[in-house]
Amino acid sequence: CGIIGVVKKASGSSISINCVEILRQGLKKLEYRGYDSAGIAVISQNSIVVIKDVGVVDKLFNSSELLSIEASVGIGHTRWATHGKPSKNNAHPHMDCSKRIAIAHNGIIENYIDLKNFLLANGHTFSSETDSEVIAHLIEHFKKSGMKTFNAFKKAVSMLRGSYAIVAIDADEPNKIFFARNVSPLIIGVGEEADFVSSDIAAFIRFANRVIVLNDGELGFISPNTVHIETLSGVVVDVYNRLKIVDSFMQDVEKGGYPHYMLKEIMEQPYALAQTFSSLQTQDLSEVLKILENARRIYVVAAGTSYHASLLGAIAFRRFLGVDAEALISSEFRVVSRVVKWGDVVIGVSQSGETIDTLLALREARERGAKTVAIVNNPFSTIARESDYVVSMRAGPEIAVAATKTFTSQVLTLLYIIAKLAEKSSAINVDSKAMIHGIKMSYEIAEKALSVSQGKAMAVANKLFQKHSAYYLGRVFGVPIAMEGALKLKEIAYIHAEAYPAGESKHGPIALVDKDYPVIFIYIGFLDELIEGNIEEMKAREAWIATIAPENMVRGSIEKYSNVVIEMPRAPLETRLITYAIPLQLIAYYTATLKGLDPDKPRNLAKTVTVI
Ligand code: G6P
Repeated sequence: CGIIGVVKKASGSSISINCVEILRQGLKKLEYRGYDSAGIAVISQNSIVVIKDVGVVDKLFNSSELLSIEASVGIGHTRWATHGKPSKNNAHPHMDCSKRIAIAHNGIIENYIDLKNFLLANGHTFSSETDSEVIAHLIEHFKKSGMKTFNAFKKAVSMLRGSYAIVAIDADEPNKIFFARNVSPLIIGVGEEADFVSSDIAAFIRFANRVIVLNDGELGFISPNTVHIETLSGVVVDVYNRLKIVDSFMQDVEKGGYPHYMLKEIMEQPYALAQTFSSLQTQDLSEVLKILENARRIYVVAAGTSYHASLLGAIAFRRFLGVDAEALISSEFRVVSRVVKWGDVVIGVSQSGETIDTLLALREARERGAKTVAIVNNPFSTIARESDYVVSMRAGPEIAVAATKTFTSQVLTLLYIIAKLAEKSSAINVDSKAMIHGIKMSYEIAEKALSVSQGKAMAVANKLFQKHSAYYLGRVFGVPIAMEGALKLKEIAYIHAEAYPAGESKHGPIALVDKDYPVIFIYIGFLDELIEGNIEEMKAREAWIATIAPENMVRGSIEKYSNVVIEMPRAPLETRLITYAIPLQLIAYYTATLKGLDPDKPRNLAKTVTVI
């Protein structure tokens, strides 16, 4: 979920747009965090007006009446349902019984049933099935006992167990927004004409570029010209020491003429890769390289698309450096946590830097004495702040839920680290200069790959969009790329897709293959020549075959049996590893649009998952 709060500054603020419009713009930027439902609460004429509904932000703000509400303080929320189905009642903000308090919450209140029973016993009635609503009632409960709002808010927060980012308003103290953070991210924005509190800088960067990233266990309030922060134990935080200026790479993004963010982000990969490469060159990686060089064992932990980049990275660590490396799904980190120890290095790969499963895996690794390295796109994120070392990708903001440019940038980053490690070690028989050259070529080749694969990707999409299922097969490095291709198709085109090591496909998956069944082969041209045999096996079952292959290696059964061959530009191995996901992203994108789906907002998904 995404939350935002805005307090316009008192002295006849010259922000010409009103509070509701600021909330609307902020929520649009937060939609990537969930879009089941959306809502706002503003203080207008000393009472609270709540407007919320199921559906996306634009649907909520469909009425001009809404934009005419006069207010200078308000909060907003865009939801990804956890407790309680998407419905108007379950949408945030939630109010107390007196309707004087409204709150919005991201996270999960683990002890909400106990709290709800306590409140029910004290006469409160509830209007939603959410865990969050208890927060508004708790504040009301403590206010009734004579506390001022901030004290009541602090008392309420001290009773919560679980993860939360909370914003709250009270019509009895109409100039303030109260906030609290534990686990779920929350950032204060200080602007000339308004102050903000939000899950993401993107929601307010247009109006405020001085930020304070809150730590776990901090709470406080903003009011015109005041930012007050303290810890749960009451220690007041020196706000000015914590202020940071956000640099321009975080600046707002628009679709730039593309129909969807996803297509824009696919198309801007050459630029993103170039940015990542040059940013890696300017970062001092010496400490990161030192600990990796001396690592007993390397674990690469991540979720979703980042996990596929991690799998590819772990294969490269083993294959190019001969080191013991393993990629793990972060929510499954427990399978190894007993053997992780001092001397190990755990690399967390996360675009957002906020995925809770990855954050928790890294915390556990640190507790067990391992060193942690974060590879993130957001250097202000929690994972970045909590890790021993940070490698920043600077691929630029990614808005579409399905990750594209950050995947290729993650692969580039991991390969770059490996090349640098190879450079340091004389024992390793890898030409690190050639590797760096191959990595650097990726942005030029990405550009060519985009132009050669568009038409062919459309041809594949024309087949896939009528199907219910597909296989993606590769070998060695091709396997994580196949997994990423299959994930993209599932995520945005809602077609069941499964990736397999091609050699394993005869041990079960092939049973599903019959006439016209789509099978997409990823042929990298390195350690995977046996794919030719797998193509023959599939053709013998009359499968419909598309193959992605280097243009100079299209021969034998690839040429003979593929219905479509996407011929990728001739390029070094590292370049191929970075760019072969591009045609797969396009295939998924075109399939989704052929089905009339919105690829930017796939159902049931959120870009940043801050719940366990
Ligand atoms: C969610 C997103 C995926 C993303 C995954 C990991 O599931 O929908 O696109 O790959 O989280 O996110 P991260 O920010 O940690 O890379």
